[in-house]
Amino acid sequence: MKRLAVLLALIGTPALAAPFAHGNAAAGKALEKEKCAACHAGRFDGDSGKIYTRADRRVKSADGLAQQIGGCNSMLGLNLFPEDEANLGAFLNQTYYKFK
Ligand code: HEC
Repeated sequence: MKRLAVLLALIGTPALAAPFAHGNAAAGKALEKEKCAACHAGRFDGDSGKIYTRADRRVKSADGLAQQIGGCNSMLGLNLFPEDEANLGAFLNQTYYKFK
């Protein structure tokens, strides 16, 4: 019985994990500054955070955030690796979006 409970707990864990749990937010922060912030800031009076916090922001969910990062990456030809996208997601979610 105890073993079953442990097994169920293990199976249940991924679904409960926070979005971008595998991402490294510190690495994402550095990458955002390097690749993303200047372009965003140019459109929002020099404040690169505003695009993520504006009232009518486009991203409404953790999935949406992952899609937006992936979309920007391929549209802009930034050539980011999947782990870069996860790191960016972790940073943006922890700092601005705060999806659970
Ligand atoms: C060449 C300019 C440019 C670069 C570089 C760029 N973006 Fe963007 N990004 C935009 C523009 C413009 C929008 C707003 C689109 C809109 O409002 O419809 C946007 C929107 C976003 C949003 C949605 C914000 C919201 O409304 O919730 C996210 C997230 C985002 N970008 C992530 C990134 C990330 C991460 C990078 C770097 C890897 C990046 N972008 C690089 C131009 C850029």
